[in-house]
This record gives sequence, C-alpha cells and structure tokens, in this order.
Amino acid sequence: MCGIVGYTGKREAVGLLMDGLRCLEYRGYDSAGVSFFEEGRLETVKAKGRISNLEARLSGQEHCSHCGIAHTRWATHGAPSDTNSHPHTAKHLSLVHNGIIENYAQLRRELEEQGAVFVSETDTEVAARLIDSLYEGDPMEAIIRALKRLRGAFAFGIVFRDYPDRVYAVRNASPLIAARGEGESFIASDIPAILPYTKQYYILESGEMAVLTPDAIQFFDWEGHPVQKELLTSTLTVQQAEKGGYDHFMLKEIHEQPQALRDTLSPRLADGLPDFSSDGLAPDFFRGVSHIHIAACGSASYAGQVGRWAIERLARIPVTVEIASEFRYQDPILAPGDLVIVISQSGETADSLAALRLAKERGVPTLAIVNVAGSSIAREADFVLYTHAGPEIAVATTKGYSVQVGILYLIALRAALEREILPREACAGLVSRLQEALSLLPQALELEKDCSRAAQSLRDVSSMFYIGRGQDHSLSLEGALKLKEISYIQCEAYAAGELKHGTISLITQGTPVVALLTESELAAKTVSNIQEVKARGAMVIAVCLPGISLPEGLCDILITLPPLPELFAPLGAIIPLQFLAYHTACLKGCDVDKPRNLAKSVTVE
Ligand code: M6R
Repeated sequence: MCGIVGYTGKREAVGLLMDGLRCLEYRGYDSAGVSFFEEGRLETVKAKGRISNLEARLSGQEHCSHCGIAHTRWATHGAPSDTNSHPHTAKHLSLVHNGIIENYAQLRRELEEQGAVFVSETDTEVAARLIDSLYEGDPMEAIIRALKRLRGAFAFGIVFRDYPDRVYAVRNASPLIAARGEGESFIASDIPAILPYTKQYYILESGEMAVLTPDAIQFFDWEGHPVQKELLTSTLTVQQAEKGGYDHFMLKEIHEQPQALRDTLSPRLADGLPDFSSDGLAPDFFRGVSHIHIAACGSASYAGQVGRWAIERLARIPVTVEIASEFRYQDPILAPGDLVIVISQSGETADSLAALRLAKERGVPTLAIVNVAGSSIAREADFVLYTHAGPEIAVATTKGYSVQVGILYLIALRAALEREILPREACAGLVSRLQEALSLLPQALELEKDCSRAAQSLRDVSSMFYIGRGQDHSLSLEGALKLKEISYIQCEAYAAGELKHGTISLITQGTPVVALLTESELAAKTVSNIQEVKARGAMVIAVCLPGISLPEGLCDILITLPPLPELFAPLGAIIPLQFLAYHTACLKGCDVDKPRNLAKSVTVE
C-alpha cells in the first residue's frame, strides 16, 4: 500500500526516482509525486493518477538533482487528487508516507490551534507538519520528538531543506529497506526499486530510523542510539522484475507457474517423500497437531481452502480457514495442540500479520507460508516455509496462489506420513502423482486459446457465477475473485448444491455460469446442478477433467483439462480460470496489471 523511494548519491536523482516508482506502482496508483533538491532548492511535483501523469508534468525539464524522495499512492485518507498526493511539504521539509497515522485527527486539531494551516485531507500531512513544528535545526531530534506522538503504522522518507544531500527514513510496521551502492544510498518499500543499482540492502525494523548520505547509512533506534545491522544480498534479478516479452506481468506470471511450483516443491522432497527439515521443522512437527487454523486474506485464504481439503482428507487433521481480518476480532478458540498457519505472498498484509501476532500472544505455534524473503510475517512467525515463486508484480496473484496450494499439498502429505495415516510407500505414490500433476501444467497452459475464445462470450456481461463442489468450490472462489478484480464483472462463487436454496433466482436467460468438475465422485451431483441452471437459461462454460463425461448439449463451451490426478487437479484447473479472467479483462480494455482501487500489498487494516 503506497510505494516509497528515496535516493542520495552520484546519479541524477529525478530519473532514478521515477524508475523506482515504476517498479513500485503495483503498490498503489492513485497519484504519484517527487521532491528533489536542484540548485539548492527543494522542488516538489505531484500529479493525481498514474505515474505517467507525473512523468508528463516533469517532461521537458532537464534535471541535475542528486537527492530526493518519491511516492506512489494508494489512497486511504482523502480522495485521489493533486493536493492529497505525496510528498507533503512544510516549511523545513518534505515527507512521503506508507501506512496510516491513527491519531491524525487529534494531532491535526492541536497543530491547527498552534496556527498550522493544512492544505490536504491526509493523515500524512499531519506527520509532516508535526515534525516541522518540532524542528529547531536538528532533523533527528525533531523526528524523535514527533515519533513519541505518532500512533499507527508508518514508513517515512523525509528530506530537510537545510540538508540537501540527506534522506531520513523511519519505520513502524510498514515495510522499508535501505540500500547501499558505491557513493550512493537508497530507501525503498520493496527490493525491485533498487535492483538496477545494487543488491546490498538492510531491512529497517519497526522502531528504527536511518540517516542516508551518499557515503553511508547510519541506523538508530527511536531514542537516537546507534544500531548495528546486517547487510543482506538480494538474490532477485532485474529480469525477474520485467515483463520479458509478455503483454502483461499477469500473463508472464501465469506462464511461470510450472517453474515456480518446481522451485517450491523440489527442495522439499527427500527420497520421494515430503521433508521440511531444511526449513527447520522437526521430523514429527505435525504428528501431535490436533487442529490447524489457516489465517489469510483474499487469494491466500482461497489457497488455504484448497489446502484444507487435502489436509483433512489425507492427514485427518481438522482445519478451519479464517479470513485474517476476522480472525483477530472474533476471539478465536485456540487450544494446546493447535497450529496457526498464516499464508501470505507479500508477507506484509496487515490483517494477516495481526492474526499471526494474536496467535503468538496466545502461545500457539505459528507457521508462515510466505513468498517474500525477510518480510514481516516471515520474520515474526515461529517457522516459515518460503514459496519460491520469484517476484509477483501483477496485482492479481497467479503463481503466488499456486505455490501456496502446492506447499499445502506437501504439508498434507507430510502430516499424513508423520501421523502414520499414510504408509511411506503410499505417501511416495501420492508424491509421484503430485509430480505428475506438475508435469501436466504445460498442457494446461496450452488451453489459453480456448479460454480467450470463451472470454468473447463474457466481455459484455454484467454478472455471472462460478459453481463447483468440494475442492471445486474452493477453486471457484479463486476463479471468481480473479475475474472480479481485473474485469470488474460482478461474479459470485457458489457451492453448486447450494445455488437452489436462493441464489438460483438470479439465473436468467444468458447468465454465464462457469462449472468446475475435477472430482469424479461429485461429478454426477454437479451435473444435476448444471442441468438446473441450464433449464433456466444459463450459458454454461464447463471446465472438466477428461475422465468425467458430461451429457450431450449440457454445456455451451467445454474446456477439457489435461488428465490431472484428481487430488491435485486444482494446480492445473486454476490455469484456465486465470486465462479466462485475463482475456476477459483484456477484451474489455481493463488495466490488467493494475486494476482500479487495488494495491498489491495491503499494509493497512
Ligand atoms: O500478499 P498476500 O498474499 O497476503 O495478499 C493477500 C491478498 O491481498 C491477495 O491475495 C489478493 O486477494 C490478490 N490481489 C488477489 O489476486
């Protein structure tokens, strides 16, 4: 939620900051802005809307700046507008912010009573004016005094007019890294922004601040005491964060799924059996677990839903999947023997982090499934299983979701083995089936053409349904979310058997219904449900395993999956659903990688 970049050093800063913003645009795109020193003056330029609008405002100007900060916004307080855009300036400084200042209203009143005049509706301007009001020539002192008053989650980048080669950075919850190159220093909300220049970075922890000059970065706690930090080296490459010839990051990431799954699962197989010893899990980690609570948001929670089927079926451990934003406030019943699994691609989702912290407070062991190394959830969980999907840039997750499902399958198999529900041979047999499913994913990718043809029939609809039973229902939740978030079609995922209890009244002539059939045991029942919607005029698109036969004329469009093993079919069946959403959005002219109102990483509650 919001992206921050800051730079001081030998290169031209404005161009570099703009490039950095482009890498962070997935974090929000309601507005963008930049503050930079030029010929001793602090200049600020901002624009509502995409980064391209800011670019247009900056175009035609030659810059020779070497220090500045920049921001791309996902609006929370105050509508997207030029004035509400960051950076927010005051007499002595300019500031960019990612997060929320919870006590902004009270602070704003106090500052107004002292004569401050606010120009925006944002909480961020309060932080800028507060620090400004406390400034007496020493930036650190002003920041430290202000921090004692600020409540909420925030990462700041700040420049002071009196110090034209310094960037100040502060972190409380919202993610922020600081990075070093030769004769240059950077801050950023995420690594891709600094990758073209350096791979060496530090993670700022909550309660820390940094002072950056071209020659060094110094770290302090909020009392001003120096802090020693470990310099880390990123393993990401610039290419991984580029489109690589695809029209959109989403399309590239759909095609990367077979590799992402191999990278995630292969290191966790030993002698053909699932093995999490290299992740630090004891050989009997799951043996005594009596209940698993999965807490996650959005697609990560839908991955959890698919995982629930596998864990309950194979390991016979009861699993509840909780939406992280609800988990925290529902006073969850957590008992000895329980395990809380938090799933998050970014590792920074505020609701999931809060759920993790609650579980830890209650003394329950926590296991995180996270894609981004060094992220908050990964660092705070008792145990972490990293997925190796590489950077996911499109706001709509694809490979991030698949690797979560993949690792949950391994957990299900491992738990079944430890609990002696599956003998070694049977477990190894199922691992082979899982590998077989992975080997069929390239065939699932070949369904793109069929899906783009099917998308033609969806471009003009205003509402539709996804239906399925069992794991197909879990899968349909993700299929429907994909379509909603990028094509803006109102779409509901429904358990196929539940439709007749009310919702079927919404089916009229031509209403599209995508029916999923990957479980032969349940197929006959789902076929009946398809007949019911068909009888009411629905236009049916069936996504079906080849072994499941459908009555002649039942569906208007049939998408036949490769012969995936049923238990692991969701890994392949999700692919046509992703393509269907992608091509529908493209046909409608939607901004596929940056859908309206969304941001990739939701770091506010
Ligand atoms: O980074 P996380 O996995 O914690 O993100 C959770 C959700 O915000 C995310 O999956 C969201 O639903 C996606 N945009 C869906 O495509």
